[in-house]
Amino acid sequence: MRLDTSRVIRLVDYKAPDWLIETVHLDATLDDTRTRIVATIQFKPNPKGMGGALVLDGDDLVLESLALDGVQLPTFAYTIDRHTLTLHDTPQRAFTLTIVTLLDPAANSQLMGLYRSSGNYCTQCEAEGFRRITFFLDRPDVMAVYTTRIVAKKEEASVLLGNGNRVEAGDLPNGWHYAVWHDPHPKPSYLFALVVGKLGKVGGSFMTRSGRNVELGIYVESGKENRAGYALDALIRSMKWDEEAFGCEYDLDVFNIVAVSDFNMGAMENKGLNIFNDKYVLASPETATDADYANIEAIIAHEYFHNWTGNRITCRDWFQLCLKEGLTVFRDQEFSADQRSRAVKRIADVRTLRSQQFTEDSGPLAHPVRPFEYREINNFYTPTVYEKGAELIRMLKTLLGADDFRKGMDEYLARCDGTAATIEEFIACFVDTSGRDLTHFARWYEQAGTPLVSVTETFDSESGHYRIHFAQSTKPTPGQPDKQAMVIPLAIAFLNKQGLELKLTPKTGQLDDHVFVLDTESADLVFEHLDEKPVLSALRGFSAPIVLELDTSDDDRLVMLAHDTDPFNRWQAAQGFAMKLLKAASITRREGREMHFDPRFAEAVSHVLNGKDHAFIAQILALPSESDIAREIGDNVDPDAVRDARLGLRRALGHHIGQPLQLLYATLETKESYRPDPQSAGSRSLRNVALDLLAIGMPEIGLRLAEQQYRTADNMTDRFAALAVLAQHRGEAREIALEHFANTFENDPLVLDKWFSLQASIPELETLDRVKRLMAHPGFSMKNPNRLRSLIGAFAAGNPSQFNRADGAGYDFVSEIVIDTDRSNPQVAARILGAFKTWRTLEPDRRALAETALRRIADQDQLSPDVLDIVTRTLA
Ligand code: PHE
Ligand code: ZN
Repeated sequence: MRLDTSRVIRLVDYKAPDWLIETVHLDATLDDTRTRIVATIQFKPNPKGMGGALVLDGDDLVLESLALDGVQLPTFAYTIDRHTLTLHDTPQRAFTLTIVTLLDPAANSQLMGLYRSSGNYCTQCEAEGFRRITFFLDRPDVMAVYTTRIVAKKEEASVLLGNGNRVEAGDLPNGWHYAVWHDPHPKPSYLFALVVGKLGKVGGSFMTRSGRNVELGIYVESGKENRAGYALDALIRSMKWDEEAFGCEYDLDVFNIVAVSDFNMGAMENKGLNIFNDKYVLASPETATDADYANIEAIIAHEYFHNWTGNRITCRDWFQLCLKEGLTVFRDQEFSADQRSRAVKRIADVRTLRSQQFTEDSGPLAHPVRPFEYREINNFYTPTVYEKGAELIRMLKTLLGADDFRKGMDEYLARCDGTAATIEEFIACFVDTSGRDLTHFARWYEQAGTPLVSVTETFDSESGHYRIHFAQSTKPTPGQPDKQAMVIPLAIAFLNKQGLELKLTPKTGQLDDHVFVLDTESADLVFEHLDEKPVLSALRGFSAPIVLELDTSDDDRLVMLAHDTDPFNRWQAAQGFAMKLLKAASITRREGREMHFDPRFAEAVSHVLNGKDHAFIAQILALPSESDIAREIGDNVDPDAVRDARLGLRRALGHHIGQPLQLLYATLETKESYRPDPQSAGSRSLRNVALDLLAIGMPEIGLRLAEQQYRTADNMTDRFAALAVLAQHRGEAREIALEHFANTFENDPLVLDKWFSLQASIPELETLDRVKRLMAHPGFSMKNPNRLRSLIGAFAAGNPSQFNRADGAGYDFVSEIVIDTDRSNPQVAARILGAFKTWRTLEPDRRALAETALRRIADQDQLSPDVLDIVTRTLA
């Protein structure tokens, strides 16, 4: 195996830059294969630096010329190697460099730097893409004021967009035109952007709270303007919410969003010019599902919120990525919670956290929320940095209380505005405003792994003495063998058997506003003179990102499922019960015995079906996923047994409560036309889970309903839900429906993506061949990240039983694709490779096959740093 010899970047090695940049004038003349960039950059020595030679970052650049203070430099005045340009005899004073580079956007398949997407030009500079445009100090602590002049052929490009405000525009000879954009806010290079092309626009405006009018624009492929309305609406709601919830007001005269169809990630918060994967902008009732609408709302908000948490205050270095990402995810989660059902949003977020982040945190790619080192920063845009990072902010708020949290945020936004900050500086704001010591809490940023908190209750019925013993531990993670105790806020309540909340005051230990803070390895809460053991409702609202080990009795679970005043724990009671059944059934199945499911579960679930919050009930009916079950089992996993166990419980549930489900399905039918609002979306989600359970529990009835729903649906949510149900059941009906769907949407790539994903997720042996066939479908392309993710990504990460086929064919297939994709788009290849992160938890035969496939990747010459880094760590 090849050794990863690429350079390791360490946080402890951070040094302030020797040079700073005051202003950048970037002149871009766009051409398919010969785009010319003239960058005029004003450098000055950093008083905190050491002077010396100026070393600029560069990647894949052709240098046409270089001038110092207007005088052309001979080639011996500088050295260019693979990743740097070094200026010999750098003057030790302020000076200006004029750098002319030539770019080939048409050949840029990595989608970093300047590239083409559907005939348009766009840029992506985070994290280190600006160095693919010009030679630069491409690091976030170098903040400059940018002016961008864009020149393009009119017939090729009617729209010329840059950061900031447009200050000039006009025609040039021979059918060319230009625009000049100026962004007065100093920013790091990763927030630079330009977009040039033929685009349609949907406009709007927003009046900020201080009365400034902001012009809003959403740019999409011409002809898709009618799908941009929801994004615009979400943007306006985001701008309003951020003023109210965080006091953050927008600071330019325009805010533009551009949707592009080739994009490595979800979206990008470039100052004043967000660029989005079109999947997170475009929506119409006929083409987008309720889940798509919710994602659009969340991501529009996320990128907009970065304007303060990310742009006005940016990161000193990439180790501080969670400073902007964790905080901004927290902010977008709160926004969605306020716009929709808070309980359902929390449940959905915890599902994601557990399935993505917990898996990462317990495997070979585990790392602290703020890593200590990296080889490739692109590989650290992870669920740990984003989702766990958001949980840390949430815990901070729980520990401080809402008022002190807000004070600390206000302080941060004022004190650090205009700077490139660190986690230490962020935390100091909360220390200073609250007077609290957060030294121990800050350990959450440094220690990887998910803490396990085991809770044991003892109750003495004679004396009424009730003791709760808490003990925490964290398993070793790569590079961190010994773990320390964390500060864990546990929101707690006590219920009686009727589900009423009891007010109990501990004799030993402290409960503040229902929160017990566990900050030592173990601690007790002791209560006296109780008549009966209360039902312990712990970790309410999922108050900390931990695994709670609490041997709740089935009876207590049923009390909580029926009555807990914390909706999260009501849901958790159902999940916990289901998980217990699923784990047991997986083992039974693996041993070849017949599975059996305690009917009390279905019974209890049937009693919640008539509640008012439909989205919430739908969450109760949605069982833990196959990967959730696998994670709970922990080792020696047989993915086929897990799949069968889950199918078995769904069948049992659907059968047992078939009648009420049918009734529910009929009652929830509506004649109203589609609206994406949370209430009607909730009703659709409940009706569609009911359909799914019916189809498996009572196939004759359920499948007939699914066929009918597929035919009659007037919106994508219901149509696709019906298709998804049909797809789970072998036979002619599904093939007919799948073909009909493909014909109906053959010209709609984002809809075809759903169709690819759905087929890639069918948990049966024929799926791999189906996926291979689909790669030849005219709507598929290996070059487009959305296509790749929807077909290959869905198979690798969303179909555990087939990716982990017992014969290893799933591994062989995915590893070939990784190797292939790595040649054109390393970032996307590295992401797909991430599917192997659970390989060590598998039973020995599959483990061996997975290892062989991983070694084959590792043995390739010419791997990108991205893939090399992931494969090395995955195998370590
Ligand atoms: N900064 C983007 C976000 O989370 C994510 C991103 C990273 C996009 C790198 C592109 C490239 O909002
Ligand atoms: Zn972000």
